[in-house]
Order: sequence, then structure tokens, then C-alpha cells
Amino acid sequence: MRDSRETFVNHAFVTGYPIKHSRSPLIHGYWLKQFGIAGSYRAYEVTPEAFPDFMHQLRDGSVGFCGGNVTIPHKEMAFELSDRPDELSAELGAANTLWLEDGKICATNTDGRGFVANLDERASGWDRISTAVILGAGGASRAVIQAVRDRGVKTIHVVNRTAARAQELADRFGRAVEAHPITALSEVMAGAGLFVNTTSLGMDGEPAPSIDFSPLASGAVVTDIVYVPLKTPLLRQAEEQGFRIVDGLGMLLHQAVPGFEKWFGRRPVVDETLRQIIIEDMDAHA
Ligand code: ATR
Repeated sequence: MRDSRETFVNHAFVTGYPIKHSRSPLIHGYWLKQFGIAGSYRAYEVTPEAFPDFMHQLRDGSVGFCGGNVTIPHKEMAFELSDRPDELSAELGAANTLWLEDGKICATNTDGRGFVANLDERASGWDRISTAVILGAGGASRAVIQAVRDRGVKTIHVVNRTAARAQELADRFGRAVEAHPITALSEVMAGAGLFVNTTSLGMDGEPAPSIDFSPLASGAVVTDIVYVPLKTPLLRQAEEQGFRIVDGLGMLLHQAVPGFEKWFGRRPVVDETLRQIIIEDMDAHA
């Protein structure tokens, strides 16, 4: 007879609405194969109206998953409806990774860890800085601000088209974070060692403004959390102006690591083959 837990212990999901473009199944599928784990990870579309029911079914085991990822637009609801959110997700008010423990839904947010792991891998030493500039104040910006602050960066300038949204984040994340209108961008870039674009500017061939990166410290790192295209217009400009650039794909890959370890019990590594698999998929759907 099969242990009833056996039927769902190794099955994980990614849910969002819509979800069909998610690359997470490719990432986790690669690692499952690499480790030879007889589990699964699949996209599971849930509408916002149905999400509370989905959480009940996850908790009582009837949906058959041991945990999974949550993406737009469910991240806030996943946090609110989880039983044991950790401190990271509580400060963000949003969760992207869920797992079951003793019949309770535990929640965390791994976006910030993915962001810094990507920089650690591709721009080692990036954190020997005192000032960072973050463009944008949406959902994605929060995890980046939290992670950069937690790494010890003393001053984080958040610059946003809608200044009030930047101010909300400054209030949320404490003294290290200062809010500015977009008109102050050049001024706050002076001497900064890290510039992060968290807006959708330049995504999928959309136009992006020209930015003069020259006020940044020499050797500063410029990164974009947008990864389609891989080299966004902002990254291209920064590279042409002589700055180190880091694309956003690694953030997607690295944010997946803690979830895989929770659900499947092995800590995976982000390697070049995985990166190439995702790049090929992006090219195939360009
Ligand atoms: P996400 O969760 O992906 O961060 P979001 O919450 O919609 O998405 O936030 C998008 C961010 O991109 C915001 O900072 C937004 O600025 P506003 O707060 O002023 O809306 C920024 N953004 C989007 N389009 C922009 C544009 N054309 N110019 C400047 N900023 C833009």
C-alpha cells in the first residue's frame, strides 16, 4: 500500500493569473532531472477569485501539492492567507514561495535573495558600496530594497515617476531609504556604486529613456530586473558608458533555489546550462 503522503509529497506548482508564460517549470524541471527526483513542478492557473479556495486545498492536501511558487497577481494574498509567514515576507507584505509543515502553510519571499545571489555571482564585490540608486517603486522594487538594505548598504535612493510611491517605501523600509522624484535622478546618482532598474522601462522592446550614468562611481554596477530582452536598453547604455552590467535573468534563476530545496530536499545550483535553456526558450518565443 502506498503511504498517502507519497502521492503528493513531491509535487510542486507555480500559480499566477495568467501563468502559461512562466519559465519556472523549465527551471525546476531541469533540477528534478539533474537530481533524478521523481517529482513534478507544474504551472497551475488560478484566478484571483479562486485563490482563497486554492489555499484551503493546499492546506488540507486535497490539491495534491507539497508547496509551490506564487506570482502576479497572487503574491499579496498568498502572504495574507498563509499560516506562518516569515519576517522577510511580512515586511514586504508579499510571498512568492509556499510549503507545508505540520498542515500549516509556511511562506517566504525569495526575490531579494535571488537579486543579491545574481549580483554575487556576476559582480562579485558589488556590496562594497555605501550608496545605491533604485529606479521604480512597484512590487518588484520592494524585495530589491529589502535585500540591498539587509546586505548593509547605508543609503538607498529610491527614485520614482510617482514620488508618493517612493515615499511609501522609504516609510516602510526605514532610515537607509530615501525617496526622490524622477527629476532628482542625476543628482542622487552622484558617487553611487549600484544602479538598479526595477521598472518596466525597456521591457519587450518598449522604448526607454536615455540615462547619463556618468555621475555614478567609477566601477559601479548597473543591473536591471527586466530580462526580456537580456540586454535591456538601459544596460546597453550603461555598458557603452563603461559600467559593469548584470542582466536580470540570474535573479529569476536564483530566486528558485530556496523553494526547490524546501519541496525536494536538495539544494540546486544555478549553472550555465540552465541559463542557456532559458535563453533558448526566450529566443524561441521572441
Ligand atoms: P512591478 O510589480 O513589476 O514592480 P508595478 O507595481 O506596476 O510593477 O510598478 C511598475 C514600476 O515601473 C513603477 O515604479 C512605475 O512607476 P509609477 O509608480 O510612477 O507608476 C514604473 N514605470 C512604469 N512605466 C513607467 C514609465 N513609462 N516611466 C517611468 N516609470 C515607469
